Amino acid sequence: MTTSLTLTEVFPPLKNDLILRAARGERTERVPVWLMRQAGRYLPEYGEFKAKHNVGFFEMVKTPSMACEITLQPLRRFNLDAAIIFSDILVIPQVLGMGIDIVEGKGIIFDFLLEKPEDLDKLYKDANVCMDLKYVMDAITLTRHTLNGQCPLFGFAGAPWTLMKFMIDGGSHSPLPKARKWLKVYPEASKTLLNLLCEKTVDYLVGQVKAGAQILQVFDSCAGELGPDAFQEYSLPYLKDIAYRTKEKLMECQVEPVPMVVFAKDAHFALDDLANSGYDVVSLDWTIKPTHARRVVGKHVSLQGNLDPCLLYAPENELKTEVKSMLKKFGTQRYIANLGHGVHKDVNPDNVRMFVDAVHMYSEEINAIS
Ligand code: CP3
Repeated sequence: MTTSLTLTEVFPPLKNDLILRAARGERTERVPVWLMRQAGRYLPEYGEFKAKHNVGFFEMVKTPSMACEITLQPLRRFNLDAAIIFSDILVIPQVLGMGIDIVEGKGIIFDFLLEKPEDLDKLYKDANVCMDLKYVMDAITLTRHTLNGQCPLFGFAGAPWTLMKFMIDGGSHSPLPKARKWLKVYPEASKTLLNLLCEKTVDYLVGQVKAGAQILQVFDSCAGELGPDAFQEYSLPYLKDIAYRTKEKLMECQVEPVPMVVFAKDAHFALDDLANSGYDVVSLDWTIKPTHARRVVGKHVSLQGNLDPCLLYAPENELKTEVKSMLKKFGTQRYIANLGHGVHKDVNPDNVRMFVDAVHMYSEEINAIS
C-alpha cells in the first residue's frame, strides 16, 4: 500500500485501508465503520483528560499533542476503521476574526455575530488559513505518525452554509431564522460571505491533506433547514466548488487527491444532486431509507451512515438486529457504516463497542455467503 508519494513527510504504511477502498468503490471484505463525534464527552477518559489538564475545548484543539491524544482515545477502545482529527468546524470563523468559545453547560459563545452586510468588513478576508490553523496541520501530522498506519485519518471542515448559519444565528437556537432571513434580505452579501467561506475551506482542506489527512469530510449539518430551492442556490454550488477545487489544487501541487465525503444533514431533496457533486461518498442522516438512497444515488458513489444515534440507547438485541438490517439494506460494498449524526454525550461506550463489532461481524457473515 502506498501513501501519496509527493508529500514531504514520510508516513508509516497503512495496515487497514478498508474505508479508502469503500470510498473508491473497490471490494471490501468487511464493512468499515467509524462514528461522527467518536471522540468527546461520552468517553470518561475525555472528561478525565480535560479535568487533569484543566483545559477548555479550544485549548485542547489548539495543542497538537492534546488533539492527538483525544483523537486516539476512541481508537484504543474500539476496533474502528478510521480516526478523525479532534478539532471543530468553528475554527474557520475564528481565523476570520470571530472570538468563539465552547463552555461546558453554556454551549457556544461568540464575541459578536454578523447582523448586517457591513459586519462582513469585520472579517479578516486575507487570513491565511494554513498559517493561522497550523496547529490543526501539526495535530494531523503528529496523529498520522502516532497512528502508525493503524487506519486512515480524516480531516474535515464545515460547509459554507453551515458556517454562515453559526456566524449569524450563533450557537444556541436563535428565536428568529436570522441566517435564512439574510438569504432573502441580503442575497448578494450572503453570496459574498459564502464565497469567502468556500475559498478559505478549499485552502484549509488542501492544507489538511498536505499535512497527512487521508480522507476528508465536509459537514453541512444545517443543510436541511434550507429546503430544496435555497439549497440549490446557497449550499450546493459551494459544496461542489469545494470538492472540485480541493482536488484540482492538490493535483496542481502534485499531491494525490483523497476521497471526499459530503454530509448534508436532512437534505433528502438533494440526494441526486449530492451524488453528482464531485464527492466520492454521500453520508446520510437516519431519517432516510437506505434502499431509497441506493436507488437515487446510483452506482458511482458510495454511501455512509445512517444508524439512528438513539439506537445506542437501545437494548443489545435491538441494536444488533438494526445493524444487521442496515447492512442488508445498504449491502456490504461501496458502504461505510456510521451513525446518522454524532454520538450523544450520555451514550454508554459499551454500546459503541457493540455497534462497531456488530458491523464487522455481520458484514463478514454476509460477504461469506454472497
Ligand atoms: O470526534 C469527532 O467527530 C471529531 C471532532 C469534531 C468535533 N466537532 C468536536 C467537538 C467534529 C468533526 C466536529 C464537527 C462539528 N462541530 C459540527 C458538524 C457535525 C455535527 O455534529 O453536526 C458542528 C455543527 C460543530 C459545532 C459544534 N461544536 C457544536 C454544535 C458543539 C456542541 C456545543 C455544546 O456545548 O453542546 C461543538 C463542541 C464540540 N465539538 C465538542 C466536541 C467534542 C464538545 C466540547 C466539550 O464540551 O468538550
